Amino acid sequence: MNNNNNSNDYVHWSSRWTFIMAATGSAVGLGNIWKFPYITGEYGGGAFVLVYLACILLIGVPVMIAEVLLGRAGRTDPIDSMLILAKESNRSPLWAIIGVFGVCAGLMILMFYSVVAGWALDYVIQSGMGRFIGADASTISDNFTQLTSNNNRQLISHSAFILLTGGVVAAGVTTGIGNGVRILMPLLLALLLVLVGYSMAAGDFFAGLHFMFDTDFDKLCPKPVDGTAASLFTCDAVLVAMGHAFFTLSLGMGAILAYGSYMPKNANIGKTVLTVAALDTLIALLAGLAIFPLVFAYGLEPGSGPGLLFVTLPIAFSQMPAGLLMGSLFFMLIVVAALSSSISLIEPGVAWLEKKGIKRIWGTTGLVGISWIGGCMSIRSADVFNFLDNTTAKFMLPLGGLFIAIFVGWFMSQSRIIEELEIQSPRIYQGWLWTLRIISPLGIIAVFANSLEWF
Ligand code: TRP
Repeated sequence: MNNNNNSNDYVHWSSRWTFIMAATGSAVGLGNIWKFPYITGEYGGGAFVLVYLACILLIGVPVMIAEVLLGRAGRTDPIDSMLILAKESNRSPLWAIIGVFGVCAGLMILMFYSVVAGWALDYVIQSGMGRFIGADASTISDNFTQLTSNNNRQLISHSAFILLTGGVVAAGVTTGIGNGVRILMPLLLALLLVLVGYSMAAGDFFAGLHFMFDTDFDKLCPKPVDGTAASLFTCDAVLVAMGHAFFTLSLGMGAILAYGSYMPKNANIGKTVLTVAALDTLIALLAGLAIFPLVFAYGLEPGSGPGLLFVTLPIAFSQMPAGLLMGSLFFMLIVVAALSSSISLIEPGVAWLEKKGIKRIWGTTGLVGISWIGGCMSIRSADVFNFLDNTTAKFMLPLGGLFIAIFVGWFMSQSRIIEELEIQSPRIYQGWLWTLRIISPLGIIAVFANSLEWF
């Protein structure tokens, strides 16, 4: 990738399809396969899924369009893009704080993301060695507990994963990512479909289906014990669902903005974003459909937390034909999906440092080093892990998204937006603009206000 200041020379991806692949690579990751099923389990299923889908549609998609647009209009790293666009629209350079904040959020996410990706890496090896073949459910669940209480083992896999991330980012994002993702993402989708098929046959598919799609709002926000009425808005679940919509789409910290800056001029932003969001949602729902039927068939707890993926799927692999091969392949694909996401967590920071004259290799080394140290701390302490996960997903990303929505909706020059978006239908354009101006920001603020009990 070059760091030429002349925007005409800025490197582009060869086609809209490459952008879709790279953005999908960023979006689809542990968020879909690990986090979505386990938080859906913790928050009681269907109602949570419904709130999450509403957040994707009303907040995620409009903000994602705005973020891609900022990137393609600014044509550089998130911080400088914001500076350029704020200046162009005669606004304060302080808007660039969105970018700075995003770089920090990215590093903080990587500090726990890489630990979980390390678990998946560990599982590639365990499945490959046949550890799960014929094992019963309790052995498999003990196995996960052993992994998470063994710091050295986690340290090795976390370090390996973060080195992989650094390697790809140092090599330059535009070349490597597009090609890798083009082959591996479809393979992941195919394997996920096989697992859903297996769950249908061997698991309690209907129990899984009911759990994921019966919308019982009492389960989402359990009635307070003191007898006061349960409210949709005074429980954590809605905030978690909204935060996850940002997390899963890689929104609110400049990752999608950075990728948007490589998007060719002739690609239609709206259509592209809808494609990415649809693929991302599909993969999350399929992961749920693969996991929950097994949860119910084997008497496991849907709300058992971060271990859900690592306990349910090995049970499937322990029994299915070619389980050894399927298991190692599947966990390998999870690692790849995590890798194509984790690179987007440090790419904005590296691109910015590069623009400041710091060589890509050193920028990458520095940021990866910081994340590695943070990762070591989240291995040692579950509190650090949870703090990083909660602060980023529940607060930093939605806040970043809020400011992106406000900037593009209210402060950026309209003619510039129209020029970038090229939406043919004025009705669709107005629909998007007013959703971004009113519904998305108010939605974010309302969820914050009510979940934090500001009223
Ligand atoms: N979206 C990824 C996932 O679902 C995680 C991720 C990658 C991310 N880049 C991001 C989240 C940027 C927020 C911001 O696994």
